[in-house]
Amino acid sequence: MSAPKYEILRTELEQLITSGLDAHAPLPSERELMAQYGLSRMTVREALTRLAEDGLVYRVQGAGTFVSDLTKITKSLTLTSFSEDIRARGMVPGSRASTVTWTEADAETASVLNISPGARIVHMERVRTADGLPMCLENVWISAELVPEDFELDENSSLYDYLEGIGRGPVTASQTIQATVLTTDQAHLLEVPPYSPALAVSRVAADAQGRVVEQAKSLYRADRYDFHVTVEKAR
Ligand code: GLP
Repeated sequence: MSAPKYEILRTELEQLITSGLDAHAPLPSERELMAQYGLSRMTVREALTRLAEDGLVYRVQGAGTFVSDLTKITKSLTLTSFSEDIRARGMVPGSRASTVTWTEADAETASVLNISPGARIVHMERVRTADGLPMCLENVWISAELVPEDFELDENSSLYDYLEGIGRGPVTASQTIQATVLTTDQAHLLEVPPYSPALAVSRVAADAQGRVVEQAKSLYRADRYDFHVTVEKAR
């Protein structure tokens, strides 16, 4: 089966962007793309929407579509894993200094994970890397029922791929983003000076049946990460 037309255009535009267009450079207009590739307006729009969702471009009403600043990792509103975010930027995701601790859920964690207080949970802490450089300090809590006794993820493995594999892949999440500063220990792990700014992202993710699969708290280096949202005026 061949890829849909918008996907082919999306790939072509992605190559154009990553191979040479400067940040904030305009993309050809919808009309120009339609003429150049012989595609319908709908197909061109679909390709541009996907690029915007991936954070590669941003759109300004009435002015057109522009290349995002790719020196920063841009996160879009689509629910994605760290690995997907980093791969979408053409970099290799990884982890280091990973620890897995088995513990009992306190009242707060139990209520978030929808399990009984005292139930067994797994706490995983990882420094997430992009092309080997530290990007994010991630703490994840999941119910022990989801994983085997010897649970561990190697440095190239994705938690979301693992959850997908057991039929509990996250599809929705409630997320809060806050500005913060790193403690000395956190800054050390992320290789920045103490008290450097960071974005704290708290996520509670659920699977297709609405069952909570993880509570996660991630601290992203503010110098390497930003959060991109495409907004539309309510009609
Ligand atoms: C992001 C999310 C976390 C999630 C992680 C999974 O960092 N903020 O909530 O646990 O992605 O990433 P991966 O599948 O690459 O392990």
